Amino acid sequence: MKLYYTHEKGPHMQIEVVADNAALGRAAAERILQTYADRELQVLGVATGGTPATTYRELTKRSEGRLSTLRLAALDEYVGLPADHPASYTTFVLEQIAKPLGIPAGQVGVPRAEAHDLVAAAASFEQQLRDNGGVDLQILGIGSNGHIGFNEPGSQADSRTRAVKLADRTRRDNARFFDSIDDVPREALTQGIGTILEARRILLLASGERKAAALAHAMEQAPSADCPASWLQRHPDVLVIADEAAASALSNRPEINTEA
Ligand code: GLP
Repeated sequence: MKLYYTHEKGPHMQIEVVADNAALGRAAAERILQTYADRELQVLGVATGGTPATTYRELTKRSEGRLSTLRLAALDEYVGLPADHPASYTTFVLEQIAKPLGIPAGQVGVPRAEAHDLVAAAASFEQQLRDNGGVDLQILGIGSNGHIGFNEPGSQADSRTRAVKLADRTRRDNARFFDSIDDVPREALTQGIGTILEARRILLLASGERKAAALAHAMEQAPSADCPASWLQRHPDVLVIADEAAASALSNRPEINTEA
């Protein structure tokens, strides 16, 4: 497997560029299974959204039930949706990740955005992460505005799990999972940037032309709250797996790994 750096000096984020989302799913699943085989994976941090769907499918296919003892930690949840709503992230994590991997619901942690007291729910989610020994490998997607989890532009590097207002662009991007844009919640409970940066390893997945500008900003400009994903440059162990379209705006364009 070939890996590339985007910077010649300064903090590095490694990147592997593959042809398309199917290859991305294979490469990411491989990386997760390798971490498990190295006995370095007990708590897997999971992202929702369209990008990692192929990764979870490949992981299910290749793991053959071996991952059923993992704990899963979600990044975020919409405020104002019942946890069992079809578009909730609780439903996504249970139905699209835990169930196929044979992981019991009791091993799945999602921020409790249904709670009346969101400050207490955020604190108890952080406590749960600590009680489980922290996240070993965090899978992330990236929003077209550079968000990670639901940390919208303006999110600082030391932010913790908290309630946030969703950007209009995020609500438009996510409207495809709802009947209409009016049904997309306006708030969410999300792990903070500081929370995410505590994961031991990070795997950032980016797919499609819509992510190209955000990915280039995250990797090639100084870290700032304008592009929350750029804070990942401060983490010592980040691997980005991007498809050709998502990598298309990088100025130091890596070659495509056609073996994935
Ligand atoms: C959502 C989630 C993020 C996800 C992002 C990208 O807003 N909160 O965790 O990474 O969208 O989603 P997609 O992969 O569908 O583009």
